[in-house]
Amino acid sequence: MFYSPLLSLTLGLYVSLPATATTITLYATHYSTSRIHTLSLTHSSSAGYSLSETSSLDTCGTYPSWVTFDAATRTLYCSDEYGDGKVNGSLTALRADGEGVLTELAVTGKVPGGGVHNVLFGEGGFLAVAHYAGSALSTYALPLQENADSLQVFEFELSTPGTNPDRQEAPHPHQTILDPTGKFVLVPDLGADLIRVFAVDESNGGLSACPSFNYTLGGGPRHGVFWTEENALKIRGRVSSAQTILYVVGELNNEVEAFAISYPAKGCLAFRQIDTEVPYPEDLPEGASLGEIRLADNNVYVSVRMDAAFDGDDSLAHLRRNRNGTLAFEETTSSYGVLPRTFAINKAGDLVAVGNQLSSNVAIVTRDPATGALGEVVADLQVGVPGEPNTLEGLSSIVWDE
Ligand SMILES: *[C@@H]1O[C@H](CO)[C@@H](O)[C@H](O)[C@H]1NC(C)=O
Ligand SMILES: *[C@@H]1O[C@H](CO)[C@@H](O)[C@H](O)[C@H]1NC(C)=O
Ligand SMILES: *[C@@H]1O[C@H](CO)[C@@H](O)[C@H](O)[C@H]1NC(C)=O
Repeated sequence: MFYSPLLSLTLGLYVSLPATATTITLYATHYSTSRIHTLSLTHSSSAGYSLSETSSLDTCGTYPSWVTFDAATRTLYCSDEYGDGKVNGSLTALRADGEGVLTELAVTGKVPGGGVHNVLFGEGGFLAVAHYAGSALSTYALPLQENADSLQVFEFELSTPGTNPDRQEAPHPHQTILDPTGKFVLVPDLGADLIRVFAVDESNGGLSACPSFNYTLGGGPRHGVFWTEENALKIRGRVSSAQTILYVVGELNNEVEAFAISYPAKGCLAFRQIDTEVPYPEDLPEGASLGEIRLADNNVYVSVRMDAAFDGDDSLAHLRRNRNGTLAFEETTSSYGVLPRTFAINKAGDLVAVGNQLSSNVAIVTRDPATGALGEVVADLQVGVPGEPNTLEGLSSIVWDE
């Protein structure tokens, strides 16, 4: 019998390859397909990364805007940006199976319009939703029931337009953030230049309004992220004076502002501004604006929309956190698409999924966990159809299933 050691070696390697391939799921919401798209990122040492769409579901109302993934229950909560202060939007809860195939668990239309973000609070027992066009904050008990009423709705008003009357003609809550203690929900309000603060009653999920923090006038706070000592390497065994910093992007002044957060023995949390930074080598070009902000260890990342700095593609800015909480600009790298509305860092900290709205693609970019530097695109997929500027079109959010 003919025997080739080389052939047998080649086959042996080939056959062993599938065992080293790993697959991870992501979910993308899309304004114009009115769907949540399930994506699969596969990695093998021989073939590298590949990203494909494995399923999708027509769900989440007219304008799926934002999805939160609760890994503990494999449930997605999707906010629909349809509606305004008069016309309702919707909220949908979905179950994801092991392959990321989605089925609706419950839908409610008893929701203010313009839902743009949501967050779990009260140990995962409740959901808080920010309504941009609806100028409101609403909360729901979980598991979400079909056609459920809200627990609470806070409607906000503005007596006079803000510094930027086109964008600040009304309050525009843009995000709901749970603070690291789980005792407060914060709401950056782009229209009213406020960080609204609500204290959580953990016994029943009730929110009560604290004094709002007056943000820089004309800043247009959009999204924020908390840093705590837990994000730092604990060199000594014990952390003596825990530091909590809130970093916020202003969509209208294109600055990142840093606030030291303190917790008085009684009452609500307090803010002290410690830094403002333009996360860019110079002022942003005309028409460009900051979007998402994320944090990993001592690195803060901000998306820069419509600067077209990388052969027509936009930018991600990397800032390094000093020990005192202030930020230092490091560099910009490509978002590998147009209008990076959102991006998400995986748990391992070695990949970033960038959701570019107008080019409607998800770009998977490498991240060096040691230095925080963002690198090359390793996989890229157009999802749905591209969008036009200043419309509710294109890819709206991206989240890792982990
Ligand atoms: C809109 O929401 C309100 C509660 O906020 C509810 O009473 C009303 O029935 C909803 N309308 C529709 C058409 O679902
Ligand atoms: C925040 O702004 C409001 C309205 O301009 C003002 O009445 C209030 O005193 C300000 N609060 C603080 C703490 O400066
Ligand atoms: C914070 O640290 C940086 C870097 O060490 C320094 O340049 C800056 O002056 C410090 N700021 C404050 C307010 O201490």
